[in-house]
Amino acid sequence: MSDLKIFSDSVQVNNKRVIVRLDLNVPIKNFEIEDDTRIKVVIPFLNKLLKKKAKVILITHLGRPKGKVVPEFSLNPIFNYLQKNFKEKIYFYQNGFDENAVDASNKLASGEMLLFENIRFFKEEESNEETFAKKLADLGDIFINEAFSCSHRKQASIHKITKFIDSYGGPTLEKETNSIDLILKNKKRPVTCIIGGSKVSTKINILSSLSKNADNIVIVGAMANNFLKFNGLNVGASLIEEGSENIVKDIITMGEKNKCNIIVPVDCNTSKNVGGNSTYKSLDDVGSEDIILDVGKKTIELISKTIDNSNTVFWNGPAGYYENKNFSVGSELIAKKIAENTKSKSLISIVGGGDTVAAIKNTGLEKVFTYLSTAGGAFLESLEGKELPGIQVLKKN
Ligand code: 3PG
Repeated sequence: MSDLKIFSDSVQVNNKRVIVRLDLNVPIKNFEIEDDTRIKVVIPFLNKLLKKKAKVILITHLGRPKGKVVPEFSLNPIFNYLQKNFKEKIYFYQNGFDENAVDASNKLASGEMLLFENIRFFKEEESNEETFAKKLADLGDIFINEAFSCSHRKQASIHKITKFIDSYGGPTLEKETNSIDLILKNKKRPVTCIIGGSKVSTKINILSSLSKNADNIVIVGAMANNFLKFNGLNVGASLIEEGSENIVKDIITMGEKNKCNIIVPVDCNTSKNVGGNSTYKSLDDVGSEDIILDVGKKTIELISKTIDNSNTVFWNGPAGYYENKNFSVGSELIAKKIAENTKSKSLISIVGGGDTVAAIKNTGLEKVFTYLSTAGGAFLESLEGKELPGIQVLKKN
């Protein structure tokens, strides 16, 4: 059972002002939302609160405006999106957090919602300022943190607010923390972690923690180039992180010490430029102008076999340069295999990270995994074994 105070049906919300901290930090270009995954995920919970006749106060950040009003980070596009869903039941408040804001929250009718403008327009948010947090808390009767993906930030609307108001974790936050437990605590072995991305230095802590918890770590993406180079192979013009030799060495040593297999690609797909066509190469054949942009067919087979021999798979980071369709094949095939085994063999599959989700977008496979996390940094920090400040304050006494 969770040691967190989680919102449940026994908490009365009828006619109460319920502050919900969301993470609606979605990609927006020219004032258009490019990916609405994070909004879609929270809509059922908001509907539930409205049905229970709560007065819902929504708080979120967007981007990093650094405590200033920056028009391109206004929540206008998000308000427009929500208005399409909730019609006349939602209002937008853009005037700060003074007594008028408290008045507005009190005047809300049961079953209505009030969205506040980007909380990061206020510098007190990021400095976790106490008086500001108290003002936020004055807007509601209870507080729900439904922004697991922000809970690694010690900020007023996540952390200090809980000092002043009865606080709970929301359903998505609960799912995210439970899925981390499926990898770290209640795991069904063998556990395989497939880790991609471009920079090995940003993943050193997570790889160190995973080597103690997993049976296999598969390294993919540009990060793998550093391992190939370390093994004496020619990686041509591929992306390499200068000075990463010691990190690679440490990861290999940690794997040996913790009896965790470190698996790296055995072949690849290359091009002379990132926008080009795909040419298959064995690792011995990579020329000086070749750029490794995806894993090859033998690597896919190796990964598939490893997945077949696993009861739990965690995948974070694309296998290749998925932005060019010619190099999204590796990621798509890995996704397919994980999805198949989740369906047919009760594999526990946890897939996370913005890029990973983007790499398999429109494949329809997203719905099959045991859990698809929309959190990036917060998820990885939890897997490193860190206690997140926003989660720590939700612990039962
Ligand atoms: C995210 O997108 O991971 C969260 O919204 C946190 O954003 P931040 O890294 O700007 O704090």
